[in-house]
Amino acid sequence: MESKLKNKKILITAGPTREYLDPVRYITNESSGKMGYAIAETLHELGADVYLISGPVNLTTTLPKEKITYVKTANEMYQECQKHFYSTNIAIFCAAVADYTPKITSEIKIKKIDDECSLELKKNIDIAYEFGKVKTRFQQSIGFALETNDILANSKLKLEKKNFDLIVMNSPTLDQGFGHDTNKISILSKDMFIDNFALKTKKEVAVDIANAIMDYSRAFQNLVDLSF
Ligand code: CTP
Repeated sequence: MESKLKNKKILITAGPTREYLDPVRYITNESSGKMGYAIAETLHELGADVYLISGPVNLTTTLPKEKITYVKTANEMYQECQKHFYSTNIAIFCAAVADYTPKITSEIKIKKIDDECSLELKKNIDIAYEFGKVKTRFQQSIGFALETNDILANSKLKLEKKNFDLIVMNSPTLDQGFGHDTNKISILSKDMFIDNFALKTKKEVAVDIANAIMDYSRAFQNLVDLSF
């Protein structure tokens, strides 16, 4: 059976970003990148024209080298997305982008002088929000929400604010999320339909997400088809 995603251009962000204080120190988010990579590989296997923009991770992948660009900072990730977003059919924002970055980055290693030291941070660009503002009706976007509390309310706010079509909800617990090979997700759509899934391997979760994207596309078939 021919996949509905065959030859569709899909942009995926994955992994953490690093925000540098000096050449050897940075702040970052907890993220292995496993979920984003599993999604990218699954969509590639379904025949989609996948482009993965990855923060620093420690993973091997079956994706061809030319399909991946490695970045470090949120700003670099945003710049790289700029090159692809406008010609993309579907964008999946899976990266754990650092929300803040140091106000000043020292070009040389900061020395330990004072007993106390404080860090001034400024807000980073919100990549999904920026592209949500310019997304056309021929494009779809999928976001992720990793929440420890008020999962549904927080996810709904993110879906609306960032103009996502679907948002994948999960929470970090003992056997899912960070670094684990399993994940338990729910998918909330723009029309407020929720699909709950069992605890599965990240590869199986990636297949569920690919199916949700295909099902969602079907509802907008006429619009979607015009752009391909
Ligand atoms: N995201 C992004 N750029 C950012 C922050 C988040 O593209 N600077 C994307 C993530 O990839 C994810 C979604 O936005 O798809 C939600 O990310 P999350 O970190 O959960 O939300 P925030 O907006 O950062 O809100 P908060 O940290 O306050 O929960």
